[in-house]
Amino acid sequence: MKELYWIKRTVVLLCVAFWALPAKADEGMWLLPLLRSQQLDEMKALGLKLQDYDIYNPENASLKDAVVIFGGGCTGGVVSSDGLVLTNHHCGYGAIQAHSSVEHDYLTDGFWATTRSQELPNPGLSVTFIDQIEDVTTFVKKELKKDKNPNSMNFLSPKYLNNLAKQKVGEKFLKANPGTQVEIKPFFGGNQYYMFVKKIYPDVRLVGAPPSSIGKFGADTDNWIWPRHTGDFSVFRVYADKNGNPAEYSENNVPLHPKRWMKISIKGFNEGDFAMIIGFPGRTNHYYTSWEVAERRDIDNAVRINIRELRQKAMLEEMLKDLKVRIQYSSKYASSENAYKNSIGSNWAINKRDFEAVKRAEQAALLAWGKEANAPQYENALLTLEQIVSDRKDLRFRKWMLEEAILRGIEFTSVPTDVDSVVKALKGKDMKCIQAQMSSLSNAFHRFFDKNYSPDVDRKISKIMLAEYRRLIPSRSCPEYFDIIDTKYKGNVNHFIDELFKISIFASPENFARFVEHPSPKALEEDPMVLFARSVKKERKALNESLQEFEDGYSLAHRIYVEGLLKMRADEPQWPDANSTMRLTYGQVKGYSPRDCDYYGCQTTLDGVMEKEDSTNWEFVVPKRLKELYAKQDFGPFGLNDGKMPVALCATTHTTGGNSGSPVMNANGELIGLNFDRNWEGVGGDIEYLPEYQRSIIVDIRYVLFLIDKYAGATDLIKEMDIVLK
Ligand code: ARG
Ligand code: GLU
Repeated sequence: MKELYWIKRTVVLLCVAFWALPAKADEGMWLLPLLRSQQLDEMKALGLKLQDYDIYNPENASLKDAVVIFGGGCTGGVVSSDGLVLTNHHCGYGAIQAHSSVEHDYLTDGFWATTRSQELPNPGLSVTFIDQIEDVTTFVKKELKKDKNPNSMNFLSPKYLNNLAKQKVGEKFLKANPGTQVEIKPFFGGNQYYMFVKKIYPDVRLVGAPPSSIGKFGADTDNWIWPRHTGDFSVFRVYADKNGNPAEYSENNVPLHPKRWMKISIKGFNEGDFAMIIGFPGRTNHYYTSWEVAERRDIDNAVRINIRELRQKAMLEEMLKDLKVRIQYSSKYASSENAYKNSIGSNWAINKRDFEAVKRAEQAALLAWGKEANAPQYENALLTLEQIVSDRKDLRFRKWMLEEAILRGIEFTSVPTDVDSVVKALKGKDMKCIQAQMSSLSNAFHRFFDKNYSPDVDRKISKIMLAEYRRLIPSRSCPEYFDIIDTKYKGNVNHFIDELFKISIFASPENFARFVEHPSPKALEEDPMVLFARSVKKERKALNESLQEFEDGYSLAHRIYVEGLLKMRADEPQWPDANSTMRLTYGQVKGYSPRDCDYYGCQTTLDGVMEKEDSTNWEFVVPKRLKELYAKQDFGPFGLNDGKMPVALCATTHTTGGNSGSPVMNANGELIGLNFDRNWEGVGGDIEYLPEYQRSIIVDIRYVLFLIDKYAGATDLIKEMDIVLK
């Protein structure tokens, strides 16, 4: 009898728990200050053992203090009291590449500092901590009210909002806290505002990285793909002055002692276990209307897919021919390919899951609700959005073509175009002035013609890009200078480009040296690369200005549309679109079924690395040492109970670009992995979360530790970390 009671009770409880989960469990990139009111109960129901203040505590150090912005667009996790930071290999890639040459090829061989003095500084790289997060909606709205212009764009203006932030904390505070910056960011299209107090450390040193054959194993073929076998991590250390304050690189700087660092768990997990990620997702668009969904598919994504396919094919041919070119273009190729494949996955999801219909339904619901609530502004906002998307079609296509094919596709569009003062100096007689101008021109030339530039590659790709651009854009809508191609070169793009590479001052160091020897103001003024680049930039400016008119109207209407949705769903927790601010997402470690009768598990192992090995394909070469360790099954304490070595896992967490390097934690808040990718079936989640398809791809922390310890022998680093043993 009693037993039956318990069975019944459990069934009831289970049903209640199940029913209590929202329709799209695991969706959301949540703001940390709202955890308690929005998500804590559900997180606990899924297994979380922590309290909200363990994760986010405005008064005391909490988990959020161990999560940093790494560089411009990644996340990192702090893992030692000496400022050690883990992030992805692809996030540290630029730094690793910058220290690499054909002689010291850290990209190929990996790098490990065995003493702190060997840790390598990286000018331009910084790590940012978020000290405080504050809801300032009331304050900002009050300030905005002072502006009587109904079309003012202040409500989204970073300049305006950041000035408000400075005003709010006061100059004195900023002076007293070196390296501290404040910013206010709009959320929900400008319906809410948060202020962030950030501390930025500019001395960040490279401590270690595995060879690319591990850190980038599977390279572009496997990018955005699960099951995955990449050891996508690198190790850095944050340095500070002796008081722990941010300071530019100096030999006297010391490792930062952070407020908080993460514990690392090598206990492992099971399918279904709770997982959460804190990081800095960059951008999502889940408040798109159906028209914007179509625009994204038919213009943005379509142009990108078409142009990059052409560009990458040519680039790869050159890279495979020559090791030097391969190093020079590896980073450019990877970043090009990355967004390319994302666009393909995005269009797949838009079509397959019919996002247009999903958004249409959302719009219809709002219209009905607006009618009932006697709020015609929502219908008006929707009409405006529809009109704007239709009106900007042509301009938007031209802009995407210009950006992708010309500005990105043709590298010599970044030759120095600011040459008026050099010309002026050369026309005068003041030797000092001439020297100063020539030296700044020379610097600008070397910034363009840097060690990663190959004129041969640029020449080859330019021809392809220009031909495609001209095929799709009518002459009257091309940058002015393109007339020359038709008149002087009779429309022969190849001839035109070859000529540019022959005669331009900036086409080679030899040409530039010749110019320096006999500088002629006329030659500089009339240089064809300069004229070409100027004309292209002028066209970009004109397009941006024309588009801006639509942009403003769009933003005003979008704010009202989002406001309507927020009000309509006032009794459900809402998450604002990603905007590179700190967010938390949670879910479960879980596999998925990509198609009928096919199931992918949630954990990959080193066995899979060996299965994928292909010594004839650079993307799948396995380093000898890793094979030896595998043969010996020498996994130390990091192996699974069945003797295998874990490599990667996937989880239902809702992540996007910018979440790379984000710490992935278990129910106790202990680090179990680093997020580094998403499955391509899930990239549509930037518009609409796909519970049955979307997975974060995460490198298992046990693989990271195994590589640091057993592969690299950097045991001092392991000793520095707080590891929770089995
Ligand atoms: N897809 C991942 C992200 O969006 C990884 C990119 C780096 N890897 C690559 N093969 N391009 O950033
Ligand atoms: N690799 C991405 C990044 O660099 C994360 C993948 C995604 O878009 O989810 O942030």
